[in-house]
Amino acid sequence: MTQAPAIPIVTLPGDVAMPMLGLGTWRLRGRAGQQAMAAALEAGYRHIDTATMYGNEAEAGRAVAGSGLDRSEVFITSKLPSGRAGRERATLSESLRALGTSYLDLWLVHWPPAGRTLVPVWQELLALRDEGRARAVGVSNYSLAQIDRLIEVTGQAPAVNQIPWSPRRHDAAVLAGHRERGVTVMGYSPLKGSQLTDPVLTGIAGAHGVSPAQVVLKWHLAHGVATVVKSADPGRIADNIGLARFSLSEEEIGRIDSLSRER
Ligand SMILES: NC(=O)c1ccc[n+]([C@@H]2O[C@H](COP(=O)([O-])OP(=O)(O)OC[C@H]3O[C@@H](n4cnc5c(N)ncnc54)[C@H](OP(=O)(O)O)[C@@H]3O)[C@@H](O)[C@H]2O)c1
Repeated sequence: MTQAPAIPIVTLPGDVAMPMLGLGTWRLRGRAGQQAMAAALEAGYRHIDTATMYGNEAEAGRAVAGSGLDRSEVFITSKLPSGRAGRERATLSESLRALGTSYLDLWLVHWPPAGRTLVPVWQELLALRDEGRARAVGVSNYSLAQIDRLIEVTGQAPAVNQIPWSPRRHDAAVLAGHRERGVTVMGYSPLKGSQLTDPVLTGIAGAHGVSPAQVVLKWHLAHGVATVVKSADPGRIADNIGLARFSLSEEEIGRIDSLSRER
């Protein structure tokens, strides 16, 4: 097992330490999917992002079990499909069974359920967290207004909001809004949402002797945005976590931020 690369940690409420870069697993299924997850753990990833909807929690569980790592060394995020609103407890039990674990590190509502069921779902997540079945709970694809509604009723903010994020989506006001509410932004589709051949990214990558994908991922971390990145290829899996050997200057971060103005 490789020494884990130095990936920054963010501390979520409840003193829950979350590695800020995780392996995205959408479409990683079956034997090949499990092998990719195993390769990621071997390369030093300590955060796996799965979901009931991805149909690969069993693969994730087997990859962790076969890694030689203790369960406590790997941060596991999974997600409740909004169609399972009202069946939170049973769905979490299914996730835990598939993953072969007694707890999740982070459980998210995958999409905001329609209308009135929004708050009860959140209350149920908080209750399951309080029972110790998820160390932290949060949401995905929620607006700040929806987050405000959850806080208004329960007094508790989601630990995380997982939303699409990339240089082209950069929005300082959205980041500030989450920060003010104590919500960590976890970006998804960081590479799919990027034009990796953009001269700004290739230029900065060339200056540091790294790949444009590494520049995009490092830029997320520089803004305090956690991110999950998917690859099925062992070379790219290793590339994407090899971020410790370079830093972006303020000027470079500003140039990458500016890509959002070209949308
Ligand atoms: N909460 C939600 O609603 C939601 C929605 C979408 C995604 N997600 C999560 O976010 C994760 C990441 O998002 P994503 O899978 O949509 O997209 P992504 O991670 O931004 O991009 C994945 C694509 O980039 C390629 N890639 C990976 N590393 C690369 C590199 N170094 N250079 C060039 N290309 C590279 C991959 O191909 P190869 O596999 O061939 O390397 C794949 O085609 C998902 O897997 C999932 O866990 C959550």
